[in-house]
Order: sequence, then structure tokens, then C-alpha cells
Amino acid sequence: MSSTVAAPSKTAPAGGAKGQPSGDNRYKMLEATMKRHQYAADSLIEVLHTAQELFGFLEVDLLLHVAHSLRVPPSRVYGVATFYHFFSLKPKGDHTVVICMGTACYVKGASQVVAAIEALGGIKAGETTPDGRVSLMTARCIGACGIAPAVVLDGNITGKQTAGAVVDHVKGWLGNGS
Ligand code: FES
Repeated sequence: MSSTVAAPSKTAPAGGAKGQPSGDNRYKMLEATMKRHQYAADSLIEVLHTAQELFGFLEVDLLLHVAHSLRVPPSRVYGVATFYHFFSLKPKGDHTVVICMGTACYVKGASQVVAAIEALGGIKAGETTPDGRVSLMTARCIGACGIAPAVVLDGNITGKQTAGAVVDHVKGWLGNGS
């Protein structure tokens, strides 16, 4: 008599997207916020706050995404985003650095990264260099705590960053005019 014994499965996912800089959880986190508010149109301001905390600023695509999800006319979403001074739309710079200042990233030195870029560019977080090359923004937890400190460079999430590495990257933007 022979019995077949199934080999143990080795295909279980190993820890999800941990360590994957490309795993952008920000939309998932935004979705969770909208769901918590049951996609109610009157949660628009709270949702925009969350969006800005996640992304650092409110790009048009993001506003459209919120408008679509909450079934609110895009003109109204845009109107709210521009009316309140605490919302910022797309930064003016050619390039953007968004540094996560959520707890995990803060503990791993995110504030040193912010300070280094502020010193390099002669700007404060939320500002753009006078030559218009680089905008520096901060955000709350962007869902990449496993790779803290996380920094978003022109929309690409990068992890385990150091002040030196980000300075080198931004120097490239400041120096080469591209
Ligand atoms: S605290 Fe920075 S990604 Fe979560």
C-alpha cells in the first residue's frame, strides 16, 4: 500500500511587500480612510487631509481620484483644496522630495534627512528652492514603515534612506539642470 503525501506548500507569500520600495501603500491607506467614512461626500475635507498627510501634497490626479471615490464633482474638490491654506497642490519645483515623518521614519532619523535637505536647498519643508528646481515636502506614514526612513523622490518610494544619500540625489537635481 502506498500513500501519497502532499509536499508542504512553499508558496505562501513571504511577508507581503515588505522591503519593496515599489510597494506604494499610500492609495490603500487613503482607500481605508474613505471606506471608514463610508465614502460620504461630507468627509471630503478629512479625506483630503489624509491624502496630503500620505502624499505630502495634492496632485490633480489625486484630487480626481478622491472626487471619483466620493462622487463629488472635481470642481468642488479642487475648490476645497485651493480654498484652505493648509492644503498644498502640486509643488512648484521641477523635482519633489517627500520625506515621511511618521513615527517609524522619525525614529530612524527622518528629521536628519529633512534638516540636511533644508540646509542644502536653503529652504524649509513645504518650500521650493529659489531656482525652482526642488520642492521639499513632508508627509505622515506612507505605509512603508518596514523600509523606514522612507523618502519619495519624484514619486518613487525609496527606503532605508540616509541624509547623505538623499543629499547626493538632490544635488544631482540641483546641479545638472535636467
Ligand atoms: S512611518 Fe514612514 S512609512 Fe510609516
